[in-house]
Amino acid sequence: MLNIVVLAAGKGSRMNSSTPKVLHHLAGEPLLGHVVRIAQQLIDQHGGTIRVVTGHGSDQVDPYVQSLGLDAVHQAEQLGTGHALQTALDQELTEHQTLVLYGDAPLVRIADLQLLLKAGSKSLAILTATVSNPTGYGRIIRDENNLITGIVEHQDATEKQRSISEINSGIYAAPTALFNELLPYLANQNSQGEYYLTDCVQLSVRAGHQVNGVTGSDKSIMGANDLIQLAELNQIVQEDRRHALMRAGVSLIDPSTVFINGPTINIASDTVIEPQVTLNSPIIIGHNVIIGFGSYLADARIGDNTVIKPYTMVESASIGSGAQVGPFARLRPGTTLSDATHVGNFCETKNVWLGEGSKVNHLTYIGDATIGSDVNIGAGTITCNYDGVSKHKTIIGNDVFVGSNTSLVAPVALGDGVTTGAGSVITTDVEAGKLALSRSEQVSIEGYKRPKKSED
Ligand code: UD1
Ligand code: MG
Repeated sequence: MLNIVVLAAGKGSRMNSSTPKVLHHLAGEPLLGHVVRIAQQLIDQHGGTIRVVTGHGSDQVDPYVQSLGLDAVHQAEQLGTGHALQTALDQELTEHQTLVLYGDAPLVRIADLQLLLKAGSKSLAILTATVSNPTGYGRIIRDENNLITGIVEHQDATEKQRSISEINSGIYAAPTALFNELLPYLANQNSQGEYYLTDCVQLSVRAGHQVNGVTGSDKSIMGANDLIQLAELNQIVQEDRRHALMRAGVSLIDPSTVFINGPTINIASDTVIEPQVTLNSPIIIGHNVIIGFGSYLADARIGDNTVIKPYTMVESASIGSGAQVGPFARLRPGTTLSDATHVGNFCETKNVWLGEGSKVNHLTYIGDATIGSDVNIGAGTITCNYDGVSKHKTIIGNDVFVGSNTSLVAPVALGDGVTTGAGSVITTDVEAGKLALSRSEQVSIEGYKRPKKSED
């Protein structure tokens, strides 16, 4: 059984942000969410508990931790990583082994952690990595027999120690009893005046326990200490996700410009994603779909063989199969387009159900409406759904022809087969099969002279 302790109380001052570091988003989710998902996978295998140590910004972080179904342990003062672990272990954690993760190091790999847990079953084990630029990290100190004897923080390191390229990831595993034995001996005599968890290494060696190093992938130890590093992590995550999609048969025309955010992205094969597309979870897209250039999709479901033309925005909406949407369409929350529907350029929909084969092709706003099948909504039609206080519904039957530039003043209902004349303002219900017209008769005035500009 495992105690997993996620350290997330630090200030993250290099972020220069009012949002606590661990709540900064990586690929659409807080950094901490990524770490907790990895921790949860280990708990599913080994059993045990996850505790998140929070402190700085806990008024924002604790509710997020609770939303993940976990307990936060409060570190009132952030006196260092060693003090943070001590705070968690004070909670009488009884599980045999303790694994320490960082809330700001979200790329750590399960395979590396499995090796670390093995290496840390009887003694302290550290996840290390060899990197080309070790600046800022703690350096791993080894003796002539290559055994780990200590970790020196960058700020406390000599020039010679700074040239060491093997660094500390900050991720450790050890028997809980060993941490309990070592932590009371930590001191804060260092350049930052903090209780360093890294000092457990030296203490362990002095107490006669060997310290094991497990070399992880250099990516998997990367943390986000500032917004530059956060952007670098995002590039790595995005590239992994793009590759996963392409391996699953989804074509990305210009992969580096497609952004895939959040945990649930499900796209079937033979779908093509054109450049400059953003996909925000949850996304479910069928087979043989085209997502056009510059489109933005968030919480969207799209059936097979549908074409989303360029610059379309879809939010909390569902589109059937064989539909065509865009270019420049905006589907707002609550939009459901059935199979074989068309929604064209400069059309906006909200809270709309559009029946099979119906078309809303040009310059139209449809809000709070239920529209049957095989309906044609003419160019420039507006549902006047809001009277300044409340929203009202427009209900349209099957096989209706709404003439161009019709205003449908809700609440209003058009029966099956209704036609409205172009330019009409429809304020009362129209019975099935009728033509509704509400415009004054045209007059053509003979001999009319246009005003002329005077000569001077
Ligand atoms: C730490 C390690 C360093 C390692 C690096 C890897 C120490 C002393 N140094 O340095 O060897 O190379 O991580 O990224 O451990 N935290 C708390 N409470 C505190 C202080 C920190 O919960 O009082 C949390 C932070 O939120 C963060 C993690 O611990 O998630 C690491 O803290 P940070 O200040 O980023 O440590 P580094 O200076 O990066
Ligand atoms: Mg750090």
